[in-house]
Amino acid sequence: MKLAPSILAADFARLGEQVAEAEKAGANRIHVDVMDGHFVPNISMGAPIVKSLRRVTKLLLETHLMITAPDLFLEEFVEAGSDSFLVHWEANNNLHRTVRRVKELGKGAGVVINPATPALVLEEILVELDLVVVMTVNPGFGHQHFLHSTLPKIGRLRQMIEHLNHRCQIEVDGGVDETTAPLARAAGADVFVAGSSIFGDSAGVAASMNRLRTAIASGNGELRSSQADLEDERM
Ligand code: DX5
Ligand code: ZN
Repeated sequence: MKLAPSILAADFARLGEQVAEAEKAGANRIHVDVMDGHFVPNISMGAPIVKSLRRVTKLLLETHLMITAPDLFLEEFVEAGSDSFLVHWEANNNLHRTVRRVKELGKGAGVVINPATPALVLEEILVELDLVVVMTVNPGFGHQHFLHSTLPKIGRLRQMIEHLNHRCQIEVDGGVDETTAPLARAAGADVFVAGSSIFGDSAGVAASMNRLRTAIASGNGELRSSQADLEDERM
């Protein structure tokens, strides 16, 4: 189980400090949300933020590109210090080319699907991927409600991964908190992106990360029974 704090919810005036807190509290990677105002109705941050963060953290910087032309920006983010890229199936007619380019650049490659996009679209590309991301909200904004309708899709992806590329991880992004994370875990998620439940919690970064971890760990019983359900479905 891995935690990926999303800096979209951080206090940008104290960004370095907050990322250092997350690192100290055992974050596995830092999730950087890049939005262009076209692919999603919001703008956020670009490569200069990655460049600044690269100086203050050793954590893997994963770059979630919610932009219409990801290929145009890969080199710039690599130079800034990105370690991996999450690109949207919906934003790209040439997804295979983008994924291959990310690999050529020596970086991790993940593909993201929106809530209305079925898991099956990933069947042909799955073998190339380090990560698949299930958006558990519609992308563009932090602090939205987790969409429970995405849970069966996580289970379907887990089955596809077992058959096609078992080293690929499943990440969930959006509305992840101590109530919803155990459900995503039970459905088969390995990596949990969390913005407002980590940086927006008055308890502080370390305390909220610990709470999230405890909640996910205590959901293990549910994980087993959910897997049993999947087995039943196959019979
Ligand atoms: C949404 C972003 C998420 C966002 C999640 O479009 O991709 O990474 O930061 O924020 P919370 O955890 O607040 O839903
Ligand atoms: Zn994201």
